[in-house]
Amino acid sequence: MSGAGGKTRGKTANKVGGKAGSAGAKGGGSPSDGPSGGGPIGSGPVGSGKGSIKGQGGVRGMNVRLKTARGRTASSQRWLERQLNDPYVVAAKRDGWRSRAAFKLIEIDDKHHFLKPGGRIIDLGAAPGGWSQVAANRTHAVEGQGQVVAIDYLAFDQIPGTAILELDFMDPSAPGRLKALLRDGRADVVLSDMAAPTTGHTNTDHLRIMGLAETALAFALEVLTPGGAFLCKVFQGGTERDLLDSLKKSFASVRHVKPPASRADSAELYVLATGFRRVNG
Ligand SMILES: C[S@@+](CC[C@H](N)C(=O)[O-])C[C@H]1O[C@@H](n2cnc3c(N)ncnc32)[C@H](O)[C@@H]1O
Repeated sequence: MSGAGGKTRGKTANKVGGKAGSAGAKGGGSPSDGPSGGGPIGSGPVGSGKGSIKGQGGVRGMNVRLKTARGRTASSQRWLERQLNDPYVVAAKRDGWRSRAAFKLIEIDDKHHFLKPGGRIIDLGAAPGGWSQVAANRTHAVEGQGQVVAIDYLAFDQIPGTAILELDFMDPSAPGRLKALLRDGRADVVLSDMAAPTTGHTNTDHLRIMGLAETALAFALEVLTPGGAFLCKVFQGGTERDLLDSLKKSFASVRHVKPPASRADSAELYVLATGFRRVNG
């Protein structure tokens, strides 16, 4: 993990990724949910960024079966077949999204409309950049209207209209450095798709993701403008009562959302809070 010496890229620097450990080595394989198997296919999406994969020319999985599992474990064979047959992976590759996860944000925003032209967006846990691409597209950040500030401890390639901070969000310097990159130090939307690598131990994984969610919320409460929104990955099995209580105090509406692009067999879930109101003045 990067320490306090994390790097800033994007508008404020010109380095293009592709180094070891980067989530964005060019020419990568199929877009995955996150950085483990994905790579950027281009500098931005081909399409308008509107709409889910439904109604985009009938994208379907390809029903690919691999002939041989030689050199692969049974589970990596299953993973590969699932990737090859996943319509979201196919559509992400076709449309230039860096991750299939991009469709989760597209589907949630198509329904709830919180990414607006001119909006200032924070993207926590952003690599390889699918959500940042969607946010930059919908806020018109590329045209200089909106703004996207992204953070991940993994390096990933630049995205037009997006400033990237390569740093652990849990580093004490992270909140200040993110705010310094925001116009007026304020954001209209805070997104968090952060997930620590799973251990297989359900309670540990749950505690870790809730720790990230609580830290993300504390940051959101500091930077959001009135009326702002907070979208955060949690796990089924319960958003902690403390987290829900703080959300309900500070936002007009709080709901759980599971977009179609989030795999049904995954415990992943998102909490969406809209209509931010500052509690203590
Ligand atoms: C599911 S991936 C995000 C995918 C991304 N939304 C997209 O569309 O491309 C989760 C990311 O959270 C990042 N992450 C987890 N913990 C983090 C932390 N403490 N600080 C920064 N990034 C973190 C991981 O490195 C990983 O890249």
